[in-house]
Amino acid sequence: MTKVIKNGTVCTADRTWKADVLIEGEIIKQIGENLSGDTYIDAEGAYVIPGGIDPHTHLEMPFMGTTAAETFESGTWAAAAGGTTMLVDFCLPGADGSIKNAINEWHRKSAPQICSDIGYHMAITGWNEDIHREMKDAVDMGVNSFKHFMAYKGALMVEDDEMFASFQRCKELGALPMVHAENGDIVDILQKKYLAEGITGPEGHAYSRPPELEGEAANRAITIADAAGTPLYIVHVSCEQAHEAIRRARQKGMRIYGEPLIQFLTLDESEYFKGDWMHSARRVMSPPFRNKEHQASLWAGLQSGSLQVVATDHAAFNSEQKLMGKDNFCLIPNGSNGVEERLAVLWTEGVETGRLTPNEFVAVTSTNIAKILNIYPKKGAIMEGADADIVVWDPKISKTISQANHHSVLDYNVFEGFDVKAQSRYTLSRGEVIWAWGQNSQPQPGRGRFVPRPAFSSASKALSKWKELNSPRTIKRDPMNIPAGI
Ligand code: URP
Ligand code: ZN
Ligand code: ZN
Ligand code: ZN
Repeated sequence: MTKVIKNGTVCTADRTWKADVLIEGEIIKQIGENLSGDTYIDAEGAYVIPGGIDPHTHLEMPFMGTTAAETFESGTWAAAAGGTTMLVDFCLPGADGSIKNAINEWHRKSAPQICSDIGYHMAITGWNEDIHREMKDAVDMGVNSFKHFMAYKGALMVEDDEMFASFQRCKELGALPMVHAENGDIVDILQKKYLAEGITGPEGHAYSRPPELEGEAANRAITIADAAGTPLYIVHVSCEQAHEAIRRARQKGMRIYGEPLIQFLTLDESEYFKGDWMHSARRVMSPPFRNKEHQASLWAGLQSGSLQVVATDHAAFNSEQKLMGKDNFCLIPNGSNGVEERLAVLWTEGVETGRLTPNEFVAVTSTNIAKILNIYPKKGAIMEGADADIVVWDPKISKTISQANHHSVLDYNVFEGFDVKAQSRYTLSRGEVIWAWGQNSQPQPGRGRFVPRPAFSSASKALSKWKELNSPRTIKRDPMNIPAGI
C-alpha cells in the first residue's frame, strides 16, 4: 500500500520546496514531482513538515503527593491533534529506587495506551552503586538521557557530588545528562520565608523562585558538565540568566543545549497576579512564568540558535489536584499543559509575527531535538528512508483554544482564549493518518511504539577531538585532575 501526500510545500529545517511525498508502509519512499500511489492525501495550500517531537512530558507521573492526570492515551491523542507524533516522557524511579524497574513500569503503563511513538528520559534522584550499574541497563534499554533535579529539596533533588558522579557515568555510557536548573536549597529557604510572612497563595510560588536561582543552577550544572567532559541539556529554560549561561558556554565551545517552553514564550508572570486563586494555581509550574524581558531573551535565543528546542513540560493536574495547595503554595502540584497547543501557538506567536521562519519552526519543534536525542533522521526529517511521521500543516485553519474543544483530560487550559492561526490538517504516524481535521476520530490506543535511542559513542569521541583542536581556552583539559568513575 502506498500513499502520496499531494501538492504540498515540503518544509524542513533547512529548505522549502513544492513536492509530493510518497509513503510505502511506515517509511518515506520518495520525494518528488507528480508522484502516484494507491491513495492520496491533499496538501494543497499547506506545508508538509516532520511530525512534532515534544521532548518533555510527564504523563501519569506520581509527583507531589498525586499523579499527573494526563494519561498516555489522552496525552498522545492530544499530541496527534496538535501535530506532534512523538513524545519523550520522564520516567521516575519508584519506591525501590530501581532504574530498570522504573523503565519496565513505564512500558507497562504506556504500551497499551500510546497512539503515537514515545521515548523516555530517566530521572536520577540520588546516587549509589545500584544506580551507577543500572544506568547502563537504561542505555541498553534505549534510554540515553538522564535528568537531574537541582530543585525539589527533600524529594527529587540531587547534590552536586551526586550530579557530578552521574554526569561522569553519562560520559562513560555515551548518554546525555539533563538538568532542571534551580537552586533548590535557596528556593526552600524562600518558600519558608514567604509562608512565615503569611504569603500562602500562588504569588508566593513566583516570589520564591526568582530567575537568579535558575541562572545560578544553570551555571553550576554547566561547570559540572565541563568538569565531567559531557554535553548538557537544560530543560525548561525560562529566563535570561539561564540563557546567558548557555550562550556563554556555547561560545567557549561546549555542547550545551537549552529548551524553552511554549508557555514561557507566551505567558508571563502577570498570570500569578490576576484572576482568582484557581486561575493562578493552574499556572503554577517550576520554573514559574517570567516577565516580558525574559520572554524576549528566549525568542532571541531561538532566532540565534543559542536555544534549540521548544517543548511543553506537559504535566497536567486537574483543578481538584491544584486545590491540594489552597492554604500553602508549596503544595500546589507543579505543572501546566501544552502538548496539543505547542505547534499552533508557536506558529502564531513565532512565524505569523515574523520572529521565526517556517524552517526555524520545524527545527525547534522537531529536527533539532531528533538530532540531540540521537534519533535523526528516523524522526525529525522529511527524507527518503525516514519514518513517515508527517504533518500537513495548514496555515489557513484558525481556531480559539479552549478546554471545551481540547483532547486533554484536563478541566482547564492555560492557553484558554488564544486565537491560533494554523492547525494540523492531517497528522501521520509511521504512515498512518492518526488525525484528520474535522473528523476528530481517535487513533487506536497501543498502536504507538517505544523508540529506543542509541548511545552517543562516536559523538562523544568527536567531542573531545573537537575540543583538542579548537578549544579557545588555554588551560588544558582535566584541570581539576578528578579521577574517573564514581
Ligand atoms: O512544574 C513542573 N515543571 N512540573 C513537572 C516536573 C518538572 O520539574 O519538570
Ligand atoms: Zn523540571
Ligand atoms: Zn518537567
Ligand atoms: Zn564508572
